Amino acid sequence: MREKILISTGGGDAPGLNAVIFAVVKSATRKGWEVYGSRSGYGGLLDRDDLVRLSPEDVEGILPVGGTILGSTNKGNPFAVPVENLAGEIKIVDISDKILSNFKRMGFFCHVAIGGDGSLDIAHRFAQKGMPVIGVPKTIDNDLEATDRTFGFDTAVSTATDAIDKLHSTAKSHDRVMVVEVMGRESGWIALYSGISGGADVILIPEIPFSLDAVCEKIADNELHDKHYSIVVVAEGAASEGGQVMSKGKGELGRDEVVLGGVGEWVAAEIRDRLGKDTRSLVLGHLQRGGSPTTFDRLLALRFGAAAVRMAEAEMFDHMVAWTPPTMTSVPIADAICRRKKVDLSSDKVLTAREIGICLGD
Ligand code: F6P
Repeated sequence: MREKILISTGGGDAPGLNAVIFAVVKSATRKGWEVYGSRSGYGGLLDRDDLVRLSPEDVEGILPVGGTILGSTNKGNPFAVPVENLAGEIKIVDISDKILSNFKRMGFFCHVAIGGDGSLDIAHRFAQKGMPVIGVPKTIDNDLEATDRTFGFDTAVSTATDAIDKLHSTAKSHDRVMVVEVMGRESGWIALYSGISGGADVILIPEIPFSLDAVCEKIADNELHDKHYSIVVVAEGAASEGGQVMSKGKGELGRDEVVLGGVGEWVAAEIRDRLGKDTRSLVLGHLQRGGSPTTFDRLLALRFGAAAVRMAEAEMFDHMVAWTPPTMTSVPIADAICRRKKVDLSSDKVLTAREIGICLGD
């Protein structure tokens, strides 16, 4: 019987998550279903206090609000929970059976799981165990091959572009090189879009191993042409030719992925050493994940939420909603998570960058 539907948000937050929740609540309620939200990923299936009834009144006004009203975590893999015993040893425990039996006992007929590839992988594993799951893709990195866009990306790019715009005046006043590190993991989408739109001189992306000689040549060339400041945008996952992606280690206990970062500071130090040029670096970091979603992201997120409810009604479980313009489609979650979307080096955006004189580090 279709009566109760569960919704959760997992992994790093992204502007637009609340718009998905809004659409699911509104649309499912109109079908006569009750909607429940699970706090912090699967928290609501472990502790009643973390399960919240969501009525249309509860979601009024959340469309422009960043983050997620349900909270999120990227160390919440129920198939591998690290538990510390009294001796200080860490044991990995699988609590997925408990979560699944609570889901069934509570009478949900569907779980709408909003997440990035990590959270969707967990959702797929639950689907294989018998939980009827619909996936909704989310990441500011825009790196899921199965969907043309993920919500959050447009907002992150706007924030990064705005920051780069602001750096121009201070860099120019001091004749400095400003190196700005942006997010994106192994894909260069945020760096490429914001760097081109923000008028950067150099953009370094993971898809093109960079040469510091090429970077310094571009900055020196600017000097020759009487431009005494330069803006360098570096994706956190970019690496020099033959070099390694820089990381800050695993971060919190129970987290699967390493925390990327450090390349911006390193590039700045190299430029300073090689050219003797006053150089500063900054990391935009989580500013890119915060704030109100742009209109584009809101609309996409609302469409994802409504499409997820349609898919629940059609019982298209273990599938993820995807946008392949101009239509909303669905893909098996397993197919969606195994393919990362990289910047196509022959694309018009890359050509545009090169043709307007931006150095891509090669
Ligand atoms: O995947 C989204 C993202 O913001 C990446 O761009 C970034 O590397 C990572 O999450 C940061 O994660 P955390 O919130 O754990 O610092």
